[in-house]
Amino acid sequence: MITIALPKGRIAKDTLRVFSKVFGEEFAFDDRKLILQKGEFCFMLVRSQDVATYVYHQAADIGVVGLDVLQEQPCNVVRLLDLGIGKCRVIVGEHRDTPIDYLQPKIKIATKMPNITLNHFSQKAIPIEIIKLYGSIELAPLVGLADGIVDIVETGDTMRQNNLVEVETILHSSAHLIANANSFYAKKTQILALCAQLEQCLDSRGAL
Ligand code: PRP
Repeated sequence: MITIALPKGRIAKDTLRVFSKVFGEEFAFDDRKLILQKGEFCFMLVRSQDVATYVYHQAADIGVVGLDVLQEQPCNVVRLLDLGIGKCRVIVGEHRDTPIDYLQPKIKIATKMPNITLNHFSQKAIPIEIIKLYGSIELAPLVGLADGIVDIVETGDTMRQNNLVEVETILHSSAHLIANANSFYAKKTQILALCAQLEQCLDSRGAL
């Protein structure tokens, strides 16, 4: 049995679609169920920020998680494969009409990714104050809560519709398959066989 933690939402659906393709049978969660058992696989649905925690503690053998999430909360897990789904970028953004004033003593940056943000600006020796938010980050510069944002951009629609522009890209992200180190050791043959099957699917489609 291999247990697999999936982040709720589109990445879970895309990952299950790939499993359905690879194994020729339907993989889908019932309504509000959080566990799906199918053959030698047991999938569980968790918040994207919790995937690496489940894998690190071996509550799941493997998991699917965005590179952005892994970068924000570094965790001692084995990185197996870039699945090429859930592509997005972590960017610095500002209001179109009131760009960030880099001459002020401390720039206020709103974000749900404080570690990536601090790391980025400290590399540039720019002092910042983090305004930690949990969502709707784009709102902060519109109402004077922050001078700029560090956030995820996928289509760019949220930024555009709220008069924000990108200043720079910090990170290109996509969903990665990760494994618990002990599980990888104990179930190496099964896990590597699964990786090979997923990779084959990836090769034939360009991306999963
Ligand atoms: C993410 C991100 C942006 C939006 C970007 O938010 O924080 O707000 O998606 O997508 P787009 O470039 O396609 O418009 P999410 O939907 O996770 O919700 P949140 O605001 O609650 O974090």
